[in-house]
Amino acid sequence: GREPLPRKNAKGLDLADPVEVKHLKEKMEKAVRETLMAGPIVGGELLTRPTKDVVNPAHVGQVVGLVGQPTDADMDLALTKSAAAQKSWDALGGKARADILNAAADIMEAQEESLMGIIGREAGRTIADGLSEVREAVDFLRYYAMRAEVDFEEPILLPGCTGEQNELSLHGRGTFLCISPWNFPLAIFVGQLTAALAAGNAVIAKPAEQTPLIAAEAVKILHQAGVPGDVLHLIPGDGAHVGAHLVADPRISGIAFTGSTDTAKLINRTLAAKDGAIVPLIAETGGQNVMIVDSSALPEQVADDVIASAFQSAGQRCSALRVLYLQEEVADKIIDMLKGAVACLKMGDPMELSTDVGPVIDETARRLLVDHAARMDREATLIAEVPLPDACQDGTFFGPRIYEIETLDQLTREVFGPILHIIRYKARDLDKVLDQVRATGFGLTLGVHSRIEKSAQEIFQKLDVGNTYVNRNIVGAVVGVNPFGGQGLSGTGPKAGGPRYMYRFATEKTLTINT
Ligand code: SER
Repeated sequence: GREPLPRKNAKGLDLADPVEVKHLKEKMEKAVRETLMAGPIVGGELLTRPTKDVVNPAHVGQVVGLVGQPTDADMDLALTKSAAAQKSWDALGGKARADILNAAADIMEAQEESLMGIIGREAGRTIADGLSEVREAVDFLRYYAMRAEVDFEEPILLPGCTGEQNELSLHGRGTFLCISPWNFPLAIFVGQLTAALAAGNAVIAKPAEQTPLIAAEAVKILHQAGVPGDVLHLIPGDGAHVGAHLVADPRISGIAFTGSTDTAKLINRTLAAKDGAIVPLIAETGGQNVMIVDSSALPEQVADDVIASAFQSAGQRCSALRVLYLQEEVADKIIDMLKGAVACLKMGDPMELSTDVGPVIDETARRLLVDHAARMDREATLIAEVPLPDACQDGTFFGPRIYEIETLDQLTREVFGPILHIIRYKARDLDKVLDQVRATGFGLTLGVHSRIEKSAQEIFQKLDVGNTYVNRNIVGAVVGVNPFGGQGLSGTGPKAGGPRYMYRFATEKTLTINT
């Protein structure tokens, strides 16, 4: 049947209107003027605990907020309360849960500017990124609310022999643990927990260690909208202790995780080894995303799409472009255009509208990029680089770079930042290119630039990739429009923002009655 559409899309802002931008900046600054406070939120209550600083990646000396560290007893209390509250949350039904989630979407939308301020300061995301992130979070709330109404309100009636009534219904599994990353500190955080809540689960949310402040704001909004305090808890902290402690607890009935492939495998091993029920893992991990450009492509469009795909969000998207395959006939022309386009990228404070590329998340991330670039300087040809402006010296910035390499084997892991690699190929070697891409084992995003429809279709068919984009950029999947998620080393295959995502968070029950 036809998909019912979300009732409305999240509000945008006109970033070309100076008056609107002035108001936006005032509201963004106001939201971060005072030191923000996050901490464990258990049973609807913010607990006071010893804190750690949360710093601004654009100016690492600047403390944006403080985050309280949870104790084992806090986690135990969150698990106990969740177990006690989940059944009645599930029994509310899809429509009542949807009403609450829609109310949360409205509150979040009304706070768009202040949430953007927190995202900009805490995660170093640019204004354009912050805006699309808040809109994506609002869209997730409304989209999963709509799915809850469609799929979780009424059971499906099934045929039966005379005197027998059969029905099939969807329910929450119990308590879901949602572990989210810092690169979409609001959108992915909200997306995971909303899907779990909408499906009738209680949720313990563990945001990335780097970005607890925006997560705490989101949880407060959900509580304000009517999600019971005992149904949604925030447990900030690191993966090695807090995350591992929660994963190992037998009271967790499902896990949604977005992060590295290695951590997903570690979680899987822990789940397999622990006592109690068999617990599903929904994992969305990394990629070694490529774009294949043949000689029929439009060079200007390719250059635009490559810059957006590789360098938006400082390349810190799991969907971002890492390897650009250029057919030799168009390679020189496109490389020239890319050199020009990279020279125009402006690095700087993410809270300035003119900034294209902000900082990377922290010193560990920057170090990995510096090390990779040092290896590329020895093994590859530097095509373009953006030197670090003075204004970027006290933050964890890394200037975008493009290298030309010989083969994909030179990349042994995902490089999470603004470094693009280019490989030239000959038309007759396209199958070898596809073999190389397949051999990485990743399958998240793929770009094809070709005006020969058959070629694009063939590449789509031959590769096992979650999201294929033809003749456009490969980032910025839209909720309900480009359901997003990868396969193989890139994840267990769920499609966030898609019509079947919430089934992964649910259990089904069949009721047969002899009437
Ligand atoms: N969903 C994001 C994108 O499409 C990546 O996580 O860019």
